[in-house]
Amino acid sequence: MRFHALKVFTIPAVFALLILAACGGETAPPAGETPPTSPPSRTTAPAPVRSPDPTPEREPNWPQIQQVDPSALDLLETRTISDNEARIHIVVPQLAGHEDLNAHLHQWAQHQEESFRDNYRPDESPSAAIAAPSLTATWSVTAISPTMVGFYLESTESPGASTATYREVIWYNPTAGELVSGRDLLTDAAQKQLEPRIAAELEAQDVKIEPEEFEHALTDGDPALGFTERGELFIGFDSYEIGAGSLGAPSVALTLPGDRTDENVKGEDPADSEERENANEPDWLTDAGRAAKEASLEPETTDVPETPTAPDPPASESEIDCEKEKCVALTFDDGPSAKTTSKLLDILEREEVPATFFVLGTQAKAFPEIVARAHEDGHEIGSHTWKHANLTSLSGKALKKDLATANKAIKKATGVEPHLMRPPYGALDAAVAKAAKKADLALILWDVDTLDWDHRDAKKTVKSMKDVSAGSIVLMHDIHETTIDAVPQVIKKLRKAGFTPVTVSQLLGDTKPGESYFRGS
Ligand code: NI
Repeated sequence: MRFHALKVFTIPAVFALLILAACGGETAPPAGETPPTSPPSRTTAPAPVRSPDPTPEREPNWPQIQQVDPSALDLLETRTISDNEARIHIVVPQLAGHEDLNAHLHQWAQHQEESFRDNYRPDESPSAAIAAPSLTATWSVTAISPTMVGFYLESTESPGASTATYREVIWYNPTAGELVSGRDLLTDAAQKQLEPRIAAELEAQDVKIEPEEFEHALTDGDPALGFTERGELFIGFDSYEIGAGSLGAPSVALTLPGDRTDENVKGEDPADSEERENANEPDWLTDAGRAAKEASLEPETTDVPETPTAPDPPASESEIDCEKEKCVALTFDDGPSAKTTSKLLDILEREEVPATFFVLGTQAKAFPEIVARAHEDGHEIGSHTWKHANLTSLSGKALKKDLATANKAIKKATGVEPHLMRPPYGALDAAVAKAAKKADLALILWDVDTLDWDHRDAKKTVKSMKDVSAGSIVLMHDIHETTIDAVPQVIKKLRKAGFTPVTVSQLLGDTKPGESYFRGS
């Protein structure tokens, strides 16, 4: 869950990267709102339906994702987070030399820990009559090849009388050094057909789903996506994600269109049947999807590259210590713009300056290639919401949807879930902070406002750099020509004054979802 989603698959390749840098993509559970016997939702879905009595009415035999021999993966290592007092034990796999992947996996582990601690604080601990809560997270390998490795991650919370399972499949291309989103494994056609197919499958199993939760899970959620040992498409949901907790964590296995056999179309000549399938049911798998399936069914364990061949991130990323240097974060809102943003990226590339772009979801959807380039160039991509509404005027539901939709558009473009959000107009209230927390977004304001949108004067924009101090976050807008014109001088002026431009995350370090930041320390 937390990082991948399906049906709408509006997100392309990014899922792929899915995680890559960003990671984290899950939402924090609503701390303190849940009674100890009801596991909290950690998805972006609306509050799941919770059964007061989670005793299984039936024990469905859910399809399982393929498991391959982990020992065949030479580069495999593991990393553990444990706290015996709090009854936490989390193990995630690591791939030696593949640091982006490792950071992502570790972040997932940390998120499990944080969510669990947030939800089961000592003062809310269940009575002695109920077993103390515990968190156990484990993993398996579902696919191995030089271009695709799949890790299945599963965390189980046992808060007293009931349990909840959250899972996710991390796909990674070790040759390119890129995280691959589950959605990127599927074609648009698959994404359209998935919802009815899954619904029919669950109905056939006599599973009662909550239609609204189900749709949300496929649209905005991140079901675990992989393949069964028979080569079917595996889609796994979390506990409470699409129905009552008594279901456990439901999953389905769907035969891929190209794999239908004559059993499905009795009486037809095989050739006709193939033709029919081809005509009516386009392929579900993208190239990445085929690579993932092949790596699941016929794992190729040699030649997994020791390090990715993808270009290293800009040197600035790893070497800057903002505790020692005078860091400043340049931020650009309201884009990307087809006219101006590419020009800005050229300048930043030439100057080797990282920046942070708070993009609108609508714009990111319209110009995903610009957002992808900014991401690949080493800039940070945050959300500026879906359409620049004043968030304080939205209902809780609309707010949640807005943030989720924007996150989705960004993830589709970059492969990475954003962790930063700049509220339009800087407008904030408790409801916005709460929604941001649930959407895993820290709120990033600014301490230096260039007012570039107002005066549209490059000189004035440059002049406003006089207000910059160590730790400043500078607000600009990459949709104005005059702002782009100012940037070379802005950089020159800042450097002359001894400042080092960094991204917001480099400046702030780890940020907390739902918290507001105006500047670094
Ligand atoms: Ni704005």
